[in-house]
Amino acid sequence: MYKYRLTVVAVSALVATGSLAHEGAMGVIAERMTVMKEMAQTMKTLGEMLNGRREFDARLARASIAAMHEKCHQASEQFTSGTSDHASRAAPAVWEKPDEFKAEMERFDAAVKALLAASEAGDLDAIRVPFKKVGQACSSCHGAYRVPE
Ligand code: HEC
Repeated sequence: MYKYRLTVVAVSALVATGSLAHEGAMGVIAERMTVMKEMAQTMKTLGEMLNGRREFDARLARASIAAMHEKCHQASEQFTSGTSDHASRAAPAVWEKPDEFKAEMERFDAAVKALLAASEAGDLDAIRVPFKKVGQACSSCHGAYRVPE
């Protein structure tokens, strides 16, 4: 009985922390994390096509890049109004240097747009360089605006 109660207490403590973290991570923080993860998944899929670990599928590649382009626009709206909490890895610089951060987002958007245009040809080699540039744009922003884990 005692053991059972302990378990219940432990579980409800976990649940409470979980929901607190969720509330703390408020909608938009959780949402931008999801958007980032989805973009990472697309980059992984494309990377696998490029290094031959996955069969090249021109339609899938193009559709994923188009989706990433939309997500990139979503992401640029998701860092507004200083939204941060203990779960967030967004650096204070995001809000301390809003113009620079915006410029970083714009460079990223331009890189994704170039990749999208390159994917129209349905040719794997055509996306190699633009893909690399998108990857560099991801890293560039993370280097400046995302704190290490
Ligand atoms: C203009 C800045 C910027 C660009 C461009 C950018 N990111 Fe991010 N990314 C961030 C920031 C800031 C965070 C931390 C967000 C937070 O925790 O609140 C983040 C978080 C992440 C995360 C962790 C998500 C999680 O669950 O905590 C992944 C994965 C990620 N980014 C992947 C990517 C990929 C892949 C690209 C390029 C296709 C990309 N990002 C482009 C700024 C950027």
